[in-house]
Amino acid sequence: MTKIPYLTIGIGVATAGMLLGYTIVWVLWVDIEAYRFATLAHHNYLRARHGSAPLSLNLDLCNLAMMCARYYANSKRVDHSCPYHPQGKTFYFTEGIGENLWGPANTFSHYDAAVGATRRFYQEIDTYNFSDVKSNFHKFFVVGHITQILWRQTRQVGIGVASDSKRVYVVAFYYPSGNLWEENMEAVEQNVGPPLKDVPPIHIYGRWGWRFENDTREALAAENKYLLTPFPP
Ligand SMILES: *[C@@H]1O[C@H](CO)[C@@H](O)[C@H](O)[C@H]1NC(C)=O
Ligand SMILES: *[C@@H]1O[C@H](CO)[C@@H](O)[C@H](O)[C@H]1NC(C)=O
Repeated sequence: MTKIPYLTIGIGVATAGMLLGYTIVWVLWVDIEAYRFATLAHHNYLRARHGSAPLSLNLDLCNLAMMCARYYANSKRVDHSCPYHPQGKTFYFTEGIGENLWGPANTFSHYDAAVGATRRFYQEIDTYNFSDVKSNFHKFFVVGHITQILWRQTRQVGIGVASDSKRVYVVAFYYPSGNLWEENMEAVEQNVGPPLKDVPPIHIYGRWGWRFENDTREALAAENKYLLTPFPP
């Protein structure tokens, strides 16, 4: 009878398990990093076109956004009800936090949903009236995403994505928040500028090519009308 090398088999199994575990964690991490930075790049591209300074990623906001994305996926809704979202001031966030949400079908990868959300929000440029600022106040629910994306005094963003069997849930948090609800015309005029024509183009890199569903294509077409250098198809 041959002696079975239990120790060798054990070490082999443990090593293989560790490698598999590390690989899974690494792939998840790369994916999360990729959609965060791609979404940030899109935000900053769009902000530049309207004369707003670039945002930076805030990892606390990202973690909060991830918690809320999971909350929405578990409760199957996209309705700004996340209890982890500090509506008021906290010790850490001394000003309000703005929230943009999108819940497309889960035919989208997390990456495409996060980037697509930004583009879809930007499509509100077709509805927002830059020459009659006051007229936007009663259209908050149809223009309130683009205004938060472009808001000049907002400095940081956090992105989180989760999914269930039906949908992908994209949560974007903005700090400090700024939007039309204040109905302060001066503040809105100062914070949301019309598209500029002389902004140097910023190149945005896709990861594995571009794969968008129809509504994101429409958003893209709407966006490209205003861009000197259109996004890749
Ligand atoms: C914006 O408002 C002005 C003044 O009310 C109006 O003349 C114009 O048609 C509006 N533009 C859009 C795109 O709705
Ligand atoms: C998506 O777009 C294609 C081509 O533009 C069109 O034929 C198709 O009907 C669209 N699908 C949906 C679900 O709108």
